[in-house]
Amino acid sequence: MIIALGADHAGFKLKVFLSERLRELGFETLDYGAQSEAPYDYPDAAFAVAEAVSKGVARRGICVCGTGIGMAIAANKVRGVYAAACNNKEIAVISRKHNDTNVLTLGARIVSDETALDIVRTWIATEFEGERHESRIQKIHRKESDPGQRTNFQGKATICDHPLVQHKVSIIRNKNTSVKEFRELVQEIAGLMVYEVTRALPLAEIEVETPLEKTRAYTLEGKKLAIIPILRAGLGMVEGILRLIPNAVVGHIGLYRDPATLLPVEYYCKLPGDIAERDIYILDPMLATGGSASAALSLVKSRGGRRISLVSIIAAPEGISKVHEEHPDVEIFAAALDRHLNDHGYIIPGLGDAGDRLFGTK
Ligand code: RB5
Repeated sequence: MIIALGADHAGFKLKVFLSERLRELGFETLDYGAQSEAPYDYPDAAFAVAEAVSKGVARRGICVCGTGIGMAIAANKVRGVYAAACNNKEIAVISRKHNDTNVLTLGARIVSDETALDIVRTWIATEFEGERHESRIQKIHRKESDPGQRTNFQGKATICDHPLVQHKVSIIRNKNTSVKEFRELVQEIAGLMVYEVTRALPLAEIEVETPLEKTRAYTLEGKKLAIIPILRAGLGMVEGILRLIPNAVVGHIGLYRDPATLLPVEYYCKLPGDIAERDIYILDPMLATGGSASAALSLVKSRGGRRISLVSIIAAPEGISKVHEEHPDVEIFAAALDRHLNDHGYIIPGLGDAGDRLFGTK
């Protein structure tokens, strides 16, 4: 395992000590400074170590300052880095088991050299427990991918308010927009939303030979994605997404509302067999009451689906709340957040019935 080390002036000596001990233990170490006890700003070392971990140059990072605090704050600004100041062994263990930390920060003014070494050895040897901690970690991954143009709706949904998306949404809202144009625009909006929806996907490093030299490059890691439209309106978003993710597999879920109970009833469901291993995007242009979306999510989960996002174009607060309450692990994306539902369950102002407008059935 390659371990990146960094320190400021206060942590310099402890860093040297740890680096030597780690090499004796058989680890490869990379030194990102400081190189003496002359004043050295901790963010410089923290960023260098964190970048090394984030880019996969080192598997783990260890940063030492006076307290460990400044290093943790700075390292956590780097995407893909989860740093914790652990000045005792118990916290170091939990930080691996529960939080999957990949950078450990230590306070040279808080712990002795031997205690620090004990913490480091234990931290390196402890595995992430996964399970219930996995979805929590995923939430953090997603949050850090927030590019700024995404609005967070009370922590429950991400509204993709990119100007191009908003422009196109305003056209599909217009009741005079033709079926042809509506259909094309729904696909385009779905395609534009893909950038936001897939932002947190993990990448794997590969080597590529350009016409000039060999270089590191990044490709999507893991199994191909699965997209699952809820019939029938969800079909309107499929092509737009496949244009960008042509290798995605496509499942289908058909639900109708029982006129007596008003509850969604499944009438069709065909999902990829290996759904448990894929990132899944459930598509439904209108998130109104949230009944169908929630039922579709339960169905996908009952077949083993774990990493699931719901992608809608227009969402009502009622629908977001229902899905959020019943499936807090699912991230919701929408292009617009509307006011509320009317007495017939239509989103206001909305755009009418998306299925009818897509297929010209009204
Ligand atoms: C440097 O004196 C000190 O502020 C630094 O090492 C660290 O404790 C910051 O968090």
